[in-house]
Amino acid sequence: MKHLLGLNPLSAADITALLDRAETYVGVGVGDVPKRDDLKGKLIVTLFFEPSTRTKISFQLAARRLGGDVQDFSPGGSSTSKGETFIDTVRNIEAMGIDAVIVRHTSSGAPEMLTRHLQKHVSVINAGDGSHEHPTQGLLDILTIRQRKGTIAGLTVALVGDILHSRVARSNIHGLTKLGAKVIVCGPPTLVPPEVRQFGVEVADDLDDILPRCDVVNLLRVQFERQRSAFFPSVGEYAHLFGMNGGRMKRAKSDVLILAPGPINRGVEITPDVADGPNSAILAQVENGLAVRMAVLATTAGGGRG
Ligand code: CP
Repeated sequence: MKHLLGLNPLSAADITALLDRAETYVGVGVGDVPKRDDLKGKLIVTLFFEPSTRTKISFQLAARRLGGDVQDFSPGGSSTSKGETFIDTVRNIEAMGIDAVIVRHTSSGAPEMLTRHLQKHVSVINAGDGSHEHPTQGLLDILTIRQRKGTIAGLTVALVGDILHSRVARSNIHGLTKLGAKVIVCGPPTLVPPEVRQFGVEVADDLDDILPRCDVVNLLRVQFERQRSAFFPSVGEYAHLFGMNGGRMKRAKSDVLILAPGPINRGVEITPDVADGPNSAILAQVENGLAVRMAVLATTAGGGRG
């Protein structure tokens, strides 16, 4: 595998291989567990045109824990402010001798476009493009579910909230359905595009109705920064109808797994008692993000399956 652009192009076997490899990296480089040298001699560039906390830091740590060198590029203070294009920017960085570029961009398809302009040996890894895909987030969500539930096939997983703007939702849908889960997308009709049905999911607009059937509930962030007009429903209505709270937890299975990709709007998609409660795996997701990103880097820039 040279690039990782999304989970949609991958087979169930590809996804399972990445998850299995990620399991072998859990804890590597932490405490007494030594680092590895899968990326020895490789230079990895992080190129984020949108803000990030979890994805950027965990990719950088992942590369270092595999023995690679990391260089960050930030658009602020760069020559993009003088009008240099996205492609020219990356080709100039490439000319300095790099092995992989990890890219987050506002535009869907930007990472795929890079694969057609960079030299063949350079791996391109999608760290989130527009509303298209966020494949490593999908993988870390699925790994967390697999660890906690033992399997993916046969589970019912709800993706709740702002499906319209969510690249996380699309990567979860592709990955989970390929591995045999039933996926329900649930949110206000203003935030659930009709075309999502083509991906083989159930569409619902009543969270209370579907909750008793769900093994996993993944609470997507309302992306206020991407709303083109005034947010509808209002924040208060959204929290009332779709927010996960203590009262709603009583309708769910006692062992329901609560996920959220982060960052979270506390009190909107999820209340603090649920986010920090016993059913929540939110910080386990972040921890698994490191292992997943190590597996992705080793499989792409590291040169093949381990
Ligand atoms: N979940 C996620 O992508 O978080 P960041 O935007 O902080 O990277």
